[in-house]
Order: sequence, then structure tokens, then C-alpha cells
Amino acid sequence: MQSIMKLPPKIRLMEVGPRDGLQNEASIVDTISKINFIENLVEAGLKRIEITAFVSPLWIPPLADQYEVALGIKRVPGVSYAALVPNVKGYERAVAAGVNEVSVVVAASNTHNLKNLNGDTKKVMERYHEVAKRARQDKVPFRAYISCGFGCSYEGEVAVSAVLNLASKLLEFGAYEIALSDTIGVASPLDTMKVLEAALLEIAQDKIALHMHDTRGLALANIFAALTLGIGSFDASAGGLGGCPYAPGASGNVATEDLVYMLEAMGLDTGVSLEKLCDTSLQMEKILGRKLPAKLIAGRRTVRT
Ligand code: COA
Ligand code: ZN
Repeated sequence: MQSIMKLPPKIRLMEVGPRDGLQNEASIVDTISKINFIENLVEAGLKRIEITAFVSPLWIPPLADQYEVALGIKRVPGVSYAALVPNVKGYERAVAAGVNEVSVVVAASNTHNLKNLNGDTKKVMERYHEVAKRARQDKVPFRAYISCGFGCSYEGEVAVSAVLNLASKLLEFGAYEIALSDTIGVASPLDTMKVLEAALLEIAQDKIALHMHDTRGLALANIFAALTLGIGSFDASAGGLGGCPYAPGASGNVATEDLVYMLEAMGLDTGVSLEKLCDTSLQMEKILGRKLPAKLIAGRRTVRT
């Protein structure tokens, strides 16, 4: 069938449930359950997983067991175990715990950086310059999130130029991928296309990823808009876990199972077993004691009861 759309030839996923998801849950998940969760996600076929964040435990108490989680998981060859790091101290701890890649996060909003990272944008970028130097020396791949890329709960509208300036600096630092992030889930599909069309004029397609929170139920619509522009790298969170503790009102990422369902239904191969993934999210639901927002597990819950 002829199509006017230019769908990507290959899909890459980054599962962020164990980090972005669990950092914002009201109940703190025990270390063994986190380890099981990550191992089950790998069994479901996910090849890149952000397992934790080597941030200050005073800032993010739910991830205070970073070391134990990173050292406790059984490693499977071919899987990249990633961790978020906010500075060189976090980078060193992450590498000592044997992660395969690191990620950094900077907001396109100065106020958000002050609240989330205790530094203005300039200071945060200076820290990442140091992290990037170390990562280059150690040959550790790193990726960068630009959070609040579509709007900020403190500053409101965010200029596309602010997002692209940060992206170009982070690429100069050596980031292998830039995750344009809708932290507060405010973008429409047209906003998504506007930002991506501007980004594609400056950044190679295979270096762009999208990280969409589903606060207003538009994450999948936004991802579809990105697919039509040939973007094929997406972050997602099993069950739709999560949010950002320093972005008031933020809810979870697009649910991995819902995204996988949509991609597979469009003939785009993800390598993920929906059966295993849904079982994994349902297990996490039990541990958290609350229903997770993924649509696909809702169906299974009904079937089983
Ligand atoms: N891991 C563990 N501890 C850390 C750390 C890290 N990566 N970075 C700093 N610390 C410790 C320092 O050792 C110091 O401890 P001490 O008082 O016992 O000496 C203390 O934290 C303060 O250090 P400082 O460098 O002044 O950090 P800060 O208080 O200005 O906080 C960050 C800066 C970046 C570490 C903090 O804002 C943070 O961790 N933010 C992460 C927020 C987050 O993950 N949000 C969700 C993701 S979007
Ligand atoms: Zn996020």
C-alpha cells in the first residue's frame, strides 16, 4: 500500500519505569521487587532499561537503593542497563555499579532546573560538560533528556529555540541521543510536529527520541505524529508508572504496553512480548497497591476476574 507517511525503518525503546516511574510513586518499592521488575522487563524483550538514578537520596528517596538495585540484577548480554546521573559524583557511582550507559536531564526552563537540580541552566550544563568528559574517556555512552520541552508548570510556554540550543550543546558534548521530553504532558500532536520539524532541520533523525508523559491522554497521538516524520525512538514506562516529583501535576509516561500494541498493530516490530509485559505491570500494581493507567492491562484485569 502506498503511503504518504514516512514511518521509521526501526523502533528503539527506552523503558523508564524503574526510574522515572518508581521515583514518583507514593509507596516506596522494596529493592528485591525492583530487581524482579527489571529482570521481568528484560524477559519481556526490552533491550534498553533505565534501572535507577544515581541522584541524591535526599532529593529522591524512592531511589536511595541505587547501588543495591544495579548490583543485584542478573545481567543479560545485549541489554543496555542505563541510569540517570545529575553530576560527576552520580556518574562515578553509576559506573562503579556497572551500568552500560548514563543519561542526564536538563530542563528548557531555568526555574525547573533550580527546583529539580538545585542549579540554574548554566550551572547544570557545566556539570554535564564534566560528566560528558568522563563518559568520553571511559567510553560510556550517554543520552540527554531535555525536560519541559513542550511547556513548564512554572514558566508556561517554552521556546523551541531554547530546546534546540540545549540539544546542540549536548550533542557537542557527545550525547548519542536527545530525548525531547514532555514532562507535564501538555503537547498536542501539532506541537509535537512543530518541535520535531524544527529539530530535524538541525539534528540527525536517528539522534532524536521522544519522552512523552500522558497527563492529558495525548502521548500516543503525539508519538503517532512523530512516527509520520520518521522518528523511531521512544521512552515508555511499564503500566504507565510515574511522573516527575518536581513538576507539579505530572503523571506517568506513555505506558509501554499501550505503545507496543500501537506499534505492532501498525506493523512496526518492537521485539517485546505483550503477554509478559502485561504480567509484569500487573505484578507491580499488586506491589504498589494501586491500579496503573495502562489500557492494555485494564483489559486483562477484567478477563482474569
Ligand atoms: N548521589 C548521591 N549524593 C549526592 C550526589 C549524587 N549524585 N550529588 C551530591 N550528593 C550529596 C553530596 O555528597 C552532599 O552530601 P554531604 O552533604 O553529605 O556532603 C549533598 O548531596 C549536597 O551536595 P551538592 O553538590 O551541594 O548537591 P545539591 O544539594 O545542590 O543537589 C543534585 C544537587 C543535582 C545532587 C540534586 O538536586 C539531585 O539529586 N537532583 C535530582 C532530582 C531528580 O532526580 N529529579 C527527577 C529526575 S527528572
Ligand atoms: Zn519523564
